[in-house]
Amino acid sequence: MEIREGLTFDDVLLVPKRSGIVTRSQTNLQTKLSKNISLNIPVISANMDTVTESAMAVAIAREGGIGIIHRFLTISEQVNEVLKTKRSGSIIIENPYTINPEQTVHEAMESMREKGASGLLVTDNQGQLVGILTRRDIVMLESKDESKKVTEVMTNDVITAKFGVDIVEAKDILRKNCIEKLPLLDERGHVKGLITSKDIINAGNYPQASKDKKGRPLVGAAVGVKGDFMERTEALLDAGADVIVVDIAHGHSENAINTVKLIKKAFPNCELIAGNVATAQGTEDLIKAGVDAVKVGVGSGSICITRVITGSGVPQLTAVVDCAQVGKKYDIPIISDGGVRTSGDATKALAAGASTVMVGSLLGGTDESPGSFMMKNGKRYKIYRGMASFYAALGRKNKETSNASLVEDLNDYVAEGVEAMVPYKGSVTDIIKQLTGGIRSGLSYCGANNIPQMQQNAEFIKMSTAGYAESQPHDVELM
Ligand code: XMP
Repeated sequence: MEIREGLTFDDVLLVPKRSGIVTRSQTNLQTKLSKNISLNIPVISANMDTVTESAMAVAIAREGGIGIIHRFLTISEQVNEVLKTKRSGSIIIENPYTINPEQTVHEAMESMREKGASGLLVTDNQGQLVGILTRRDIVMLESKDESKKVTEVMTNDVITAKFGVDIVEAKDILRKNCIEKLPLLDERGHVKGLITSKDIINAGNYPQASKDKKGRPLVGAAVGVKGDFMERTEALLDAGADVIVVDIAHGHSENAINTVKLIKKAFPNCELIAGNVATAQGTEDLIKAGVDAVKVGVGSGSICITRVITGSGVPQLTAVVDCAQVGKKYDIPIISDGGVRTSGDATKALAAGASTVMVGSLLGGTDESPGSFMMKNGKRYKIYRGMASFYAALGRKNKETSNASLVEDLNDYVAEGVEAMVPYKGSVTDIIKQLTGGIRSGLSYCGANNIPQMQQNAEFIKMSTAGYAESQPHDVELM
């Protein structure tokens, strides 16, 4: 048997090339996520329950990348995360959240908490605007009596504008009247939209943001290959998800291929990513089934033990090189998923042919990742766990099954991921800045202005163990 050599990020370096780049800002990180979607930075946040829900998806889209909402939620919970992402950062919110004047303040507070909204428009049974209820109205409520009706607490005199108002005019109305929310009405007084000052400010602050045709943040959502995946896909697309990711550990399987075919048949306009695979044949089979991008990486993730448990996988750099050659042939982008710890790793994955990198552990432990903080030895941490870990499976089964069958099911469960914790890292924005700053410098070392140019110029050199040791800080006491 002929055995090939498989290499990963730490086995290689990119050979520096003559460069005309004077400053990093000259470089362009635009890239393709999939056949029909472009991003301004090549970064995707992983569809994991300790990485991507709406807060992460909003933050990453503002920087020019995209987040994929994980699938370990009920359909309505996952749809809600997509809706929350779409609302946040879009200048005109379509179908803003409303409440009836006869409902209680308590109900309004519940609704605001669940939807992450700072206010609700109050509409009567005919859908006409009769008031607005904001957190301020509730805080000012003297008796703190939450059983009061919304109509008793809301602001009645609402300044509004016509649906279709020009953004400059809307800004003017907000500024002149010192208000934060401007409901947009049709000629019958029915609510058609909402413009908030916060969203206008945000739009100016994030010129790189990745947006859909309506100016809303791009967001993706993952589905599985069993059970409710068709119903889930339909609901997610209806909610505005820009891309669906068929997410399965062994993506080169009949299950994954059939799922891709079924989704593409039922929703031909759905932008579809599938994975994970680690071989040229796996990539080709998914492309032939109809995908718009292929996710590559088997056992490469920081919390993965697939290679330990099953003995299967391909070191990530070789996997990307092999899959990218097929991707190039069909003009289908490749996503390198897992194993990126530094901007150097990301640069190597892109140079090897990936159009984007999907990252998990790098973004775990941030303000925007789901989960609460825990303390250990006086330091703050957040949980970061593999989606095939025992506790992630326990969470899923708890939702799906009765407790009696739970024990039986889990007795047979073979985990392919571990539970871990990562130190608190602050805001994801700073991490993305470091990551993209490093990639930009990486382009410059390759004498390239952009990612496709780097892929053309890239020359890898294999390192010895001594070469690797030399690449790390050495012979100094780190502070
Ligand atoms: P990083 O290295 O960025 O990797 O933390 C994130 C990627 O790891 C994959 N993933 C898993 N792989 N068992 C696995 O074998 C797991 O339990 C598991 N959970 C996540 C996934 O591709 C993710 O994007």
